[in-house]
Amino acid sequence: MPDIAFRLMSAIMALKDLVYPTIDKRVTAFGIRAGMTVVDYGCGPGRYTIRFAKLVDRGGNVYALDVQPLAIEAVKRQMAAHALDNIVPVLAKGYDTGLPDRIADMVCALDMFFALREPSTFLREVHRITKPEGVLILDDGHQSRQSTLAKVRAAGGWRIAEETRDHLKCVPLDNATR
Ligand SMILES: C[S@@+](CC[C@H](N)C(=O)[O-])C[C@H]1O[C@@H](n2cnc3c(N)ncnc32)[C@H](O)[C@@H]1O
Repeated sequence: MPDIAFRLMSAIMALKDLVYPTIDKRVTAFGIRAGMTVVDYGCGPGRYTIRFAKLVDRGGNVYALDVQPLAIEAVKRQMAAHALDNIVPVLAKGYDTGLPDRIADMVCALDMFFALREPSTFLREVHRITKPEGVLILDDGHQSRQSTLAKVRAAGGWRIAEETRDHLKCVPLDNATR
């Protein structure tokens, strides 16, 4: 995403959050607990990252990951503004997160899956970084639920454990059962 588009998107999101403050309620349904390691995949300006960091508390941590350098700068500003030191900003390269295997209790991919050119490559990388007992929270963004489900099924490696209007909870199948 070009810098100008990222800045515009961030401004629109800030306005939307002011008019419709729904993020906290939405995040409550994800099941984030103190001590967890959460990856905010495609964190953008960090509006979810901050909520996640407060929920995992000091014993947990949040990897705020994005391919856009401006997102990483925005997250660093947010960390300073909220005095949070349990967030690790990560600049990803394509579909390579650079994170260790099986690090995440939860990966949240919000408002980004629909736009990916290689959803299967993305889901393979998420599978690699997710603990066997971990979970992926995925939303539809600007695509139909049918498209989201079709992409997840085509990729393999995931079981859809829960479906709400808001999101899917997917759990990794172990490599032997893929
Ligand atoms: C519409 S924004 C959503 C930001 C945030 N998740 C939210 O809902 O507020 C999508 C973000 O995904 C990022 N993104 C797109 N492709 C990505 C990839 N392959 N890896 C990591 N981030 C990606 C974009 O740079 C952008 O910041």
